[in-house]
Amino acid sequence: MKVRKLMGALCAAGLLCGATASAVQAAEAVSVLHWWTSGGESKAVGVLKDDMTKQGYTWKDFAVAGGAGAAAMTALKTQVISGNAPTAAQIKGPLIQEWAEQGVLVPIDSVAGDWKKNLPPEIDKIIHADGKYVAAPFSVHRVNWLYINKAALDKAGGKVPTTWAEFFQVADKMKAAGIQPVAMGGQPWQDLTLWEDVVLSEGADFYKKAIVDLDQKTLTSDKMVQVFDTVRKIQGYFDNGRTGRDWNLATAMVINGKAGMQFMGDWAKGEFAGANKKAGTDYICAAVPGTEKSYTFNVDSFVFFQQKGQKAATPGQLALAKTIMSPEFQEQFSLNKGSIPVRLGVKMDKFDDCAKKSYSDEQTAIKSGGYVPSLAHGMAQGDATAGAMTDVVTKFMNSSQDSKSAVAALANAAKTK
Ligand code: BGC
Repeated sequence: MKVRKLMGALCAAGLLCGATASAVQAAEAVSVLHWWTSGGESKAVGVLKDDMTKQGYTWKDFAVAGGAGAAAMTALKTQVISGNAPTAAQIKGPLIQEWAEQGVLVPIDSVAGDWKKNLPPEIDKIIHADGKYVAAPFSVHRVNWLYINKAALDKAGGKVPTTWAEFFQVADKMKAAGIQPVAMGGQPWQDLTLWEDVVLSEGADFYKKAIVDLDQKTLTSDKMVQVFDTVRKIQGYFDNGRTGRDWNLATAMVINGKAGMQFMGDWAKGEFAGANKKAGTDYICAAVPGTEKSYTFNVDSFVFFQQKGQKAATPGQLALAKTIMSPEFQEQFSLNKGSIPVRLGVKMDKFDDCAKKSYSDEQTAIKSGGYVPSLAHGMAQGDATAGAMTDVVTKFMNSSQDSKSAVAALANAAKTK
């Protein structure tokens, strides 16, 4: 996103250049822009809505459908440009800084007294701008998961794959048993989610050099060519109907046994839970082959926009931030969302085995250096760079381009600022 350019235009048009003194007092209605529209996502955000309603606030929902939020971010720009910035919006990663630089966010430090000691340092840093808290974090999603329908796996006579060789064996067995091996959706972010999984399977150091440091040598390496080759091979196990398919419809294919496996972050678990499917019995969550020791993190957060006539955060904004980080909310939200609480020390006893595994794998990865930010989910790079890299991967996955030329294009795209 070109937030900078956008805000320049906005200011020139006299719409929003810092506080607008003449504006009216904020009402106690909170307008909330997010992209949580699937079954599991709606239930999870419903927990916040209920909490806020109980506290006397009126919830105005601006849900913009579209996984990973591309459409929501476009809608947000329109709202801000027209002088109708929402009370809070779902924004994460480096994009938080991009918005903060425009001077349109309000700090929420007055309710964040105990946050620092209750958050992983990597996350605490992301939600700060100019030394102040400007975002409230919900939960941690692990992106590098492979979901497997247990009955399909048993029917095919396969075992949970831990390497790509084993993965292709299972996929072949599923095919032979008449099961579509991989359910895949059709948006660019889903392509990038799979691609970054494969990058991670080459090791967390390789991932960090390629995706965090944007190191040209790594981006143009033979290993990166191998990554594209592996992605191409996995594509051979997709069905023909993936164009335009939403992620949750692909998850539904695994839930109802039409397909055997899906590469997806653990928000998919909210869909399994909604269909009354049990982890371990009906489906298996496994780390993507070759990524057992690593953890791609994706942390959702709300940022708070300066409201007309207000210099500081409104009571509604502070109530939102406080509620989001409260231990009770953290537990209830993640139980519905498929994630784990971002707040440290929240009890995990009500969570399923996948969430418990996510939690212990997270602790291990943090210690071993395998805890890495997801590019596909806006945690690793700013919008322009991530967008250019996404275009390359999507073009590759939707054409017959060869891996070497995709790698050259990727290295070039990584220079985009
Ligand atoms: C968000 C999740 C969301 C998923 C699919 C991700 O980028 O972090 O909260 O469930 O997109 O919409």
